[in-house]
Amino acid sequence: MKRLVLTAFALLLIVMQMTGCGGSDSAESADQVAVQEDLQDETEGDTQDDETSEGKVLVAYFTRIGNTDSGFPEGVDATTSASLQQTDDGIKGNAQMIAEWIADETGGDLFAIESEELYPADYNETVEKASKDQNAKTRPALTKHVDNMDQYEKVVLVFPNWWSDLPMPVYSFFDECDFSGKEIVVYATHEGSRFSDTVSTISELEPDATVTEGMSVRGGEVSESEQAVRDSLKAK
Ligand SMILES: Cc1cc2nc3c(=O)[nH]c(=O)nc-3n(C[C@H](O)[C@H](O)[C@H](O)COP(=O)(O)O)c2cc1C
Repeated sequence: MKRLVLTAFALLLIVMQMTGCGGSDSAESADQVAVQEDLQDETEGDTQDDETSEGKVLVAYFTRIGNTDSGFPEGVDATTSASLQQTDDGIKGNAQMIAEWIADETGGDLFAIESEELYPADYNETVEKASKDQNAKTRPALTKHVDNMDQYEKVVLVFPNWWSDLPMPVYSFFDECDFSGKEIVVYATHEGSRFSDTVSTISELEPDATVTEGMSVRGGEVSESEQAVRDSLKAK
């Protein structure tokens, strides 16, 4: 009888193994391995993301020519307008030239800050409008926005000094972006005022960012400043 019971028990064990029952331990450990692998993948994914975002640079710029209400005629005399640069790719603004060199030097993403409401193509009318906008503290709506600001560690900002201040669309840019924990390097183009107080203004707008001076370049000297602009980044 005892032998019969033992045999029956042994048979039962064999059947249970064949049907997977009682294999829960091994199934559980397989699940655990899968979960662990998933977790590991996720962690590796995070690290990879971190590695790709590490040191990623956004080069944001505002320039008059990209914000005017009509194109400039072909062959416009760039030498009589310190705000325009005639290049093989057409006419460019001073801040745009500087931003493009910086993006090339850093491998950063270029972003043009563009106001929905355009400025007159006429320089003096722009000067007048900018003064009125500044007094009224306008914050013009922008035509496009930076995707996923989190991916950037450093922001290089290039703009023309307007009435010893930031152009109003640059204020709008600061209003819509959070630069906390990022480094902001400031480049200004001007006709004598250099940065004015723009660097401290940006520090006030972005108290949780580290704001440093990059370089200020006189508009009339932009075309011969490429090397100096590129070199200025090496110290940063
Ligand atoms: C509306 C306006 C206001 C300006 N105000 C100043 C100023 O206060 N100080 C200064 O040095 N240059 C001033 N400028 C000159 C520009 O900063 C300079 O021409 C700059 O290089 C233009 O850059 P952009 O071609 O990228 O627009 C002003 C220009 C404009 C259009």
